[in-house]
Amino acid sequence: MAETLLEVVDLKKYFPITSGLFDKVVGYVKAVDGVSFALRSGECLALVGESGSGKTTVGRTLLRAYQPTDGRVSFHLDGEAIDVMDADEEELKGLRRHMQMIFQDPYASLNPRMTVFEIVGEPLLVHGIKDGAQREERVRQLMDQVGLNPQHMRRYPHAFSGGQRQRIGIARALALHPRMIVADEPVSALDVSVQAQILNLLQNLQDDLGLTYLFIAHDLSVVRHIADRVAVMYVGKIVEEAPVDALFSRPRHPYSEALMAAAPVADPAQRQPPLLLQGEVADPSNPPAGCPFHPRCRHATSQCKTEVPTLQSIETDHAVSCHRAEELHLSGMSS
Ligand SMILES: Nc1ncnc2c1ncn2[C@@H]1O[C@H](COP(=O)(O)OP(=O)(O)O)[C@@H](O)[C@H]1O
Ligand code: SF4
Ligand SMILES: [Mg+2]
Repeated sequence: MAETLLEVVDLKKYFPITSGLFDKVVGYVKAVDGVSFALRSGECLALVGESGSGKTTVGRTLLRAYQPTDGRVSFHLDGEAIDVMDADEEELKGLRRHMQMIFQDPYASLNPRMTVFEIVGEPLLVHGIKDGAQREERVRQLMDQVGLNPQHMRRYPHAFSGGQRQRIGIARALALHPRMIVADEPVSALDVSVQAQILNLLQNLQDDLGLTYLFIAHDLSVVRHIADRVAVMYVGKIVEEAPVDALFSRPRHPYSEALMAAAPVADPAQRQPPLLLQGEVADPSNPPAGCPFHPRCRHATSQCKTEVPTLQSIETDHAVSCHRAEELHLSGMSS
C-alpha cells in the first residue's frame, strides 16, 4: 500500500455568528465538525456532498487558507511529518509549493488584468525565480502540458473559453511541481462537453506527474472515473468512506444512496424517481438531534432521532456512520 501523504485528524472549522452593535457571538456555523481522513501518495480521494455540506471549508482549512478551530493535519515529505496547523508563515510558504488548489470558477479565480504569463509565472516569481527568460520557459512548458498554445501567453483571461481558463488555473497550480492538489469542483462551472476534457486532463496529469488529489464535487457521477476512494460528507461530517467501486455498487449510508439516485444518468430508463433526497441540507448552526440526516432519511427509526451515530469501520477501507448500516440493503448505481 502506498505511503500516507496527508493525514487529517478531527478537523473542525466553526464560523462565529455575531449579532448586535458589539458583534456578540451568538452561535457557530459548524461547517466542518470533526473530519478525519488520510490521503495516500498518488491516489485520488473524492469528497462529495450537497452544497453546504462543508467540502470547500475542509479544503481551505487543511491548506490553512482558513484558520482551523481544532484538529491536526500532517503532511509527509521525505520521511518527515510536517505539522500544517502549527506552521508559521515561512513554513507555510514552503508547504504551499507542495499543496496547491484548483478552484471551481475559472472566471473568478484568474486576475483579469494579468496575462497568462503573469498568472502562471507568479508562483515562480514568489518562489524566487527572478529571471524572466527562465520563467517564460517554464510557463511555455506548463501551457503545453495542459493543452494550451504557448504562443498565447501574452493574452488576458477574457480571450479564453471556460475550459481554457480552467487549464490556465491548472497550469498555475502545477508551476512549482506540487505533490498534492485540492481540486474544488473543478468542472462544475463548465459545459458538460468540456467537463470530460478537463477530467481527462486531470487524470493524465495525475498519472504523468504522480500527483495526489483531494477532488471535491457535489455530483457523484463526476468522481466515478477519477476517484480511487470516496468520502461522503453531510453537515460537516464524513458519513461514509469507501473505495469507489464498493460505494457505487453497494452504498451503506442512506445519504450516499440518495445522492446516487439524484445523480444524472445517461439512460432515462435507468433513472430512479427523485424521491430519495427531499428537503434541504440541515443547518450547520443548528443541526437536528440524533442523526443529522434523520429528517430526510426514509429509513429513520426512533433511535435515529435521539442517538448520534459515529463513523464505524464495517469492512476493510469501508466506514459508515449509520445505526442501520448492517441491516439495510441500499441501491447503488450501475456502471
Ligand atoms: N466564511 C464563512 N463564514 C460563515 N459561514 C461560512 C463561511 N464559509 C462557509 N460557510 C458556511 O459553512 C457551511 C459549509 O460551507 P462550504 O464549505 O462552502 O460547503 P460546500 O463546499 O460543501 O458547499 C455552509 O453552511 C456555509 O454557509
Ligand atoms: S442513522 Fe438512521 S436516520 Fe441516520 S442515516 Fe441511518 S437510518 Fe437514516
Ligand atoms: Mg464548495
